Amino acid sequence: MSVNDEIKNLRLLVEKHNKLYHQDDAPEISDEEYDALYQRLQLLEKHKGNIDTTSPTAKVGSKPKRAFEKHSHLKPMLSLNNVFNEEEFLKFDERVTKWTGHSLTEYSVEPKFDGLGISISYEDGVLNKAVTRGDGQTGEVVTENVLTIKKIPTTLKHNPPKLLEIRGEIFFRLNDFQKLNQTIKNSGGKAFVSPRNAAAGTMRNLDPKIVKDRPLDVFFYGIGGQSEDFSCKSQSEFIEFLQKNNLPVNDKIQFGVASSIPNAVKAVLDSRDDLDYEIDGAVVKVNDFANQEKLGAVSKAPRWAVAWKFPSSEKYTKVNEVLFSVGRTGVVTPFAQIEPVLLAGANISNVSLHNMDELDRLDIKINDTVLVKRAGDVIPQITKVNVDVRDGSEKNVNVPNHCPSCGNVLKTEGPFLRCDNGMKCPAQLFGFFEHFVSRKAMNIEGLGYKINKHLINLGYVKEAADLFKLRKYEAELKSLEGFGEKSIDNLFESIEASKAPSLEMFINSLGIPEVGETTASALARFFKTFDKLKKATYEDLMQMDNIGGVVAQNIVDFFMRDPVGVKALQEVLEIKNYEVAADAHLDNLKIVITGSFQEFSRDELKQIIKNKGGVPSASISSKTDYLILGENPGSKLKKAQEFGVKLITEEKLKDFLKI
Ligand code: IVH
Repeated sequence: MSVNDEIKNLRLLVEKHNKLYHQDDAPEISDEEYDALYQRLQLLEKHKGNIDTTSPTAKVGSKPKRAFEKHSHLKPMLSLNNVFNEEEFLKFDERVTKWTGHSLTEYSVEPKFDGLGISISYEDGVLNKAVTRGDGQTGEVVTENVLTIKKIPTTLKHNPPKLLEIRGEIFFRLNDFQKLNQTIKNSGGKAFVSPRNAAAGTMRNLDPKIVKDRPLDVFFYGIGGQSEDFSCKSQSEFIEFLQKNNLPVNDKIQFGVASSIPNAVKAVLDSRDDLDYEIDGAVVKVNDFANQEKLGAVSKAPRWAVAWKFPSSEKYTKVNEVLFSVGRTGVVTPFAQIEPVLLAGANISNVSLHNMDELDRLDIKINDTVLVKRAGDVIPQITKVNVDVRDGSEKNVNVPNHCPSCGNVLKTEGPFLRCDNGMKCPAQLFGFFEHFVSRKAMNIEGLGYKINKHLINLGYVKEAADLFKLRKYEAELKSLEGFGEKSIDNLFESIEASKAPSLEMFINSLGIPEVGETTASALARFFKTFDKLKKATYEDLMQMDNIGGVVAQNIVDFFMRDPVGVKALQEVLEIKNYEVAADAHLDNLKIVITGSFQEFSRDELKQIIKNKGGVPSASISSKTDYLILGENPGSKLKKAQEFGVKLITEEKLKDFLKI
């Protein structure tokens, strides 16, 4: 057979297998066999100068590819060693000092983006190739896919060297990811598990037409190979170079010596929940390139950088049981008992499923594999049931008709199940009691889960006021296993000390539905005495500017039904009237806090504001008076600017608070 005949045959063969693979979804040969055919065809065409636009080798790009071409990075794409806390970071800094011979090394701190590493080479300032990380040495050429990200410039206008590999991370923004999954689901496809997964799946998608419709994004942060004429001497100069050349750079990059790094990392961590992309840590890098060179790399990780990892906040686990718990207001809430997982530093074994609508929405079954997520301090949630791994062992959830605590018939109220047996239901009494004695309510020390259970199960506490009549059970309490005489004496002392509560703490302790700490303080400030609050009508309550109709109705109903025995409480307690603190200069100002601070934790700030008569609020509205602005403020700043809210920076904070 002549070479030209072989070319003809090969073209037909490649066409045939293209069709079998892409159109019929029924390949007959392996990828390797296909590659061998394709490469032989390319070779023969080149050898013979037989180039034909109808040949399958000329059509790449317009049609889906079969596989990506491989490419070796000029410099390997390394991974990073991890540190998890300050101590480990300081050890890293010690090693850096030892190797460079300099102390007080300057570092950069950047978010660690949870996406897909990419290396883009520019030759004489023109984009040449985009390559995935692959095994670190060799990746796949995904130039066409990367070029769908319009932000990436195809030419560098500012001082481009002859050759430069630029490293970055490709990812999806969270709302784009959600939209993408919705579109995929609507067309009957399988949704991606995470934004990272979606980015990887999209980057390695062989059909550029599909990739084009998916809004990938990118941040650049590093250099690979470079020609000698490249002039940046440090990460900070390099970041500037990227910015001047319109290569997208993250806006949370900070610089400083070792002692400032823990705070800088904390600022990144604190901003995490406000970001619209996922990060899983911060990367700390030696700023100076000459020092980076000196430090070099061991095995696959550099000695000049570490990943300061944040606790993982999302894991798959198994549902062992779905049970129902009765809260202090009688709402019966489904929750999943899961195979315990460590998330964001906490061991999670129970996850609330909120209400019956959520149970239906998730369509969760016992034995299901579920994704549990815990973002920052937020309570854990089940975000997804992995139905693909069901194996037939799953069991339906039994929704109860009767209260699991007292057996009362349950009512349905919208998406909620409710037991309306009040304090006669042990679970509700227990829930109320725990809240009543807690730190921000009556603040009684020495009452924990165990003794509370005893007090209720033994019938010593049937309503709130019984707590103040416990003396008559002194002997019984002192003989309880696990509670020494001393601890019971201390408990009596603590109960005694709580008998003159402040008005706001007392209101908070009553557990009126939807009246928490903040509303309790507002009520105290407004009504000044408990008697006035008790007699308040719906209209009186609606005079307040921070109370809505539902809460006002809850308050009126509560005092009418008196489920916790307020009258009896008033007989044993001496509830103080509201007193304005001497230095309450923030009187009634609504103040929102955002970002992180060098000198204060957010909780400390909230406490100070309250002590000074201010009202710390969670979100910005037209009623907000001030926004206290820390580092890495997130979306609240923008909103505050829209509403024209006054800003207080950390510099001016002490003056503002008068401390
Ligand atoms: S620097 C040799 N900076 O994390 C230095 N990497 O675990 C390594 N990553 O492969 C890269 N954000 O894909 C660097 N700000 C950042 C990063 C970052 C995410 C990824 C990158 C790398 C992996 C290492």
